[in-house]
Amino acid sequence: MKVFLTSNLPAEVLDVRVHFVFDSEVPARFGDFDGLSDEARNLAKQEGFKGKLEQHFLIQTHGKGKATRVLFFGLGSQKQFTPEVLRLAVGRATKSAIRFKAKRIALTLPASHDDEAVVKAAAEGLELGAYRYTKWKTKNEDDAPHTVETVTLVLPKGERPSAALNAALVLGRRVGEATNWARDLVNEPPDTMTPTILAERAQRMAKEAKLKIEVMGKKDIEKLKMGMFLAVAKGSIEEPRLVRIKYIPTSAAARKERPICLVGKAVTFDSGGLSIKPSDSMIDMKSDMAGSAAVLGAMKVVAAIAPPFPVYAYFGACENMLSGTSYRIGDVLVSRLGKTVEVRNTDAEGRLVLGDVLAFANEEKPRALIDLATLTGACIVALGMNIAGAFGDDDTLMHSVLEAARSAGEDLWRLPLTPYLKDSLKSDVADLKNLGDRWGGAISAALFLKEFVGNTPWVHLDIAGPAMAAKERGYYAKGATGVGVRTLVEFIRRGGALA
Ligand code: BES
Ligand code: ZN
Ligand code: ZN
Repeated sequence: MKVFLTSNLPAEVLDVRVHFVFDSEVPARFGDFDGLSDEARNLAKQEGFKGKLEQHFLIQTHGKGKATRVLFFGLGSQKQFTPEVLRLAVGRATKSAIRFKAKRIALTLPASHDDEAVVKAAAEGLELGAYRYTKWKTKNEDDAPHTVETVTLVLPKGERPSAALNAALVLGRRVGEATNWARDLVNEPPDTMTPTILAERAQRMAKEAKLKIEVMGKKDIEKLKMGMFLAVAKGSIEEPRLVRIKYIPTSAAARKERPICLVGKAVTFDSGGLSIKPSDSMIDMKSDMAGSAAVLGAMKVVAAIAPPFPVYAYFGACENMLSGTSYRIGDVLVSRLGKTVEVRNTDAEGRLVLGDVLAFANEEKPRALIDLATLTGACIVALGMNIAGAFGDDDTLMHSVLEAARSAGEDLWRLPLTPYLKDSLKSDVADLKNLGDRWGGAISAALFLKEFVGNTPWVHLDIAGPAMAAKERGYYAKGATGVGVRTLVEFIRRGGALA
């Protein structure tokens, strides 16, 4: 797919021309289409098109005008417009264009006070909307991937392409591509996305992006005394992998900065272990490595934007299985930090793996430590499928993460790390237990993680809800969303917590 940024519609005939309309522009805006404005106005009326969000209608031009089809898309109220509104609409439009098997399309961008954000969002919408996971489909015509050849993004009236706008286009495409790459990792069935394979994918990515990477096996993890991580891994015949990726800037001064450390949950399949999940709850458990996919996707872009400080990424990959070698309820684990943990539920495995990996990352004395994890069903109960929970005591870091997410168009909501629930993690036999009260489960899980990060500014994102989309919408397809990539990239782009 080639994408161009121009001030005018291209001269050649297009397969689809997409026009975005605010509700205040209906019906006046249809006057712009020579020879078609009457038809557009009539059709809009018939279809009840008022330019509302998600409303759209199609005109077949039968040779009139510059395109075979014109797609009108509502953007809702101009006052409430955000780049995310456009990202969703462009994603939806891209899906339609693909359905029409269009080769050449053009999209006219809406006027806004921030053209860079609009161009970046449109580029992301294009990439994200074009995504489909078809790897395992055989010989189905409908599923044969179709690619749009050229996309022309037409700037609002009076605007001209510039270096800044082109950079926004390149960055948006890069972020979209990296998100799709992360989606592929998550959508891959658990049998072909084992800890070993996930580590290999990370290795391949790091090589291509010129990042440093270390992949450690069971023996190394034993040497590092990660007793919690090892316990979770031991029920599976698949060996665990501990991965550390480093982006190191070139300038000597920048190298001396303390790093930003990103940690992702990488349970490639979560059966629950001996505390086995019912089948219905196990269906999506290949997505329990979505946190690591987000971190990896973000690192791909970090390498390209080359920030003036180091960024490290970590994940501990394993399966949570049940067998004769599984860890048991009642076992006491000795963590890397030395704290001991009584196992009360083997399905609360994420916090065990993350506890050890967070402690390991924290040894780098990071300026900021951020983890992403499909950690609790309780977070889905609290916030639903679209919103990730954000936890952390450092208000400055929390605000920069929330601002980055807002700007990237991802929904985060801060939840409290109330010390009141800490008592529920007390054990009779060990320092901690891995299961808190039934109520407030997302909070007690976050409080457990907090035990392993010391005083480092830290934010934990519980992405159990938004990691997978239950239905297709905007630029989302059913399945993996790649949530987190956009927020992390935006956070790093803004200079991390320093900004
Ligand atoms: N991976 C799950 C959390 C999850 C649930 C992610 C649904 C995505 C969708 C996690 O390991 C888990 O099983 N958590 C338990 C914790 C409980 C045993 C304290 C849960 O949420 O039920
Ligand atoms: Zn679990
Ligand atoms: Zn899990």
